[in-house]
Amino acid sequence: MIMFFSATGNSRFVARSLAKLLDDEAVDLMRRMHDGDTSPLSSAKPFVLCMPVYVDGMPLPIYRHLKETPLQGSRMAYAVVTMGSYAGIAGRQARELFTSKQMEFVGCAEIAMPRNYLVGLAPEEKLESIEAKLKAAPEGIARVADAIAHQAQYEERHVSNLEYRLVLPFVYAWDGLAFPTKKFVANDACISCGKCERTCPVSAIRMVGGMPTWTKRHCMHCMACIQNCPTRAIDYGNALQRKRRYRFEKYRHLVE
Ligand SMILES: Cc1cc2nc3c(=O)[nH]c(=O)nc-3n(C[C@H](O)[C@H](O)[C@H](O)COP(=O)(O)O)c2cc1C
Repeated sequence: MIMFFSATGNSRFVARSLAKLLDDEAVDLMRRMHDGDTSPLSSAKPFVLCMPVYVDGMPLPIYRHLKETPLQGSRMAYAVVTMGSYAGIAGRQARELFTSKQMEFVGCAEIAMPRNYLVGLAPEEKLESIEAKLKAAPEGIARVADAIAHQAQYEERHVSNLEYRLVLPFVYAWDGLAFPTKKFVANDACISCGKCERTCPVSAIRMVGGMPTWTKRHCMHCMACIQNCPTRAIDYGNALQRKRRYRFEKYRHLVE
């Protein structure tokens, strides 16, 4: 079973490609998180977790969600992370998660994909870089599928104990403190479609009087609301007015 979390489509693309290549099913964890659904998942084939990297690690809400979700059937697990450039300790965290569930964690593969984080100082990713990553992705995914099909190890980047100890505090600090919602705003372009409310994995958005309202102090900053808004009505203060929105679907032609 391929389990995926994807705010802007990168990890969904990887998950669905793997499902096709491995003749397996892809299960949307973002929806299950939104619905608070931690009912058991069952698979005769290895579990494969596809997810983005957030702040050099595994997004902790995904970690917590899977910790509570019983995984039945196969005792083998793989992870495949998508990230702009650096996957940090996400693989080590996935290993810890699956090991705590008495499962054999085989490894974590990394697929570089376009960066979707718009907030902050990082400059917009250049179109050439987006194109290069997407054109290279299918080959990487095919290699990953081949390893999983043979229940083999991946060729994997080693994460040392030092790297793990240095990075882990950041992963926790950002999760607890640095993903505030107070600057999210919706402007007059909003058409009250409610897509943002329906997709927010941590249910931080409620439609009030036809407008999205952020009702929790923190969220994942996954960018699903901003990037998927059909009218670009959501901003972060006014920091994103001129920034290009990213959704994998806009660039799908590059991987076909
Ligand atoms: C909150 C947040 C933090 C991120 N941190 C990193 C990071 O530390 N390293 C990195 O290479 N990419 C980082 N990214 C980029 C995403 O990992 C990357 O764009 C990913 O492919 C998005 O996957 P999705 O489209 O499935 O949501 C971050 C994105 C977000 C939203």
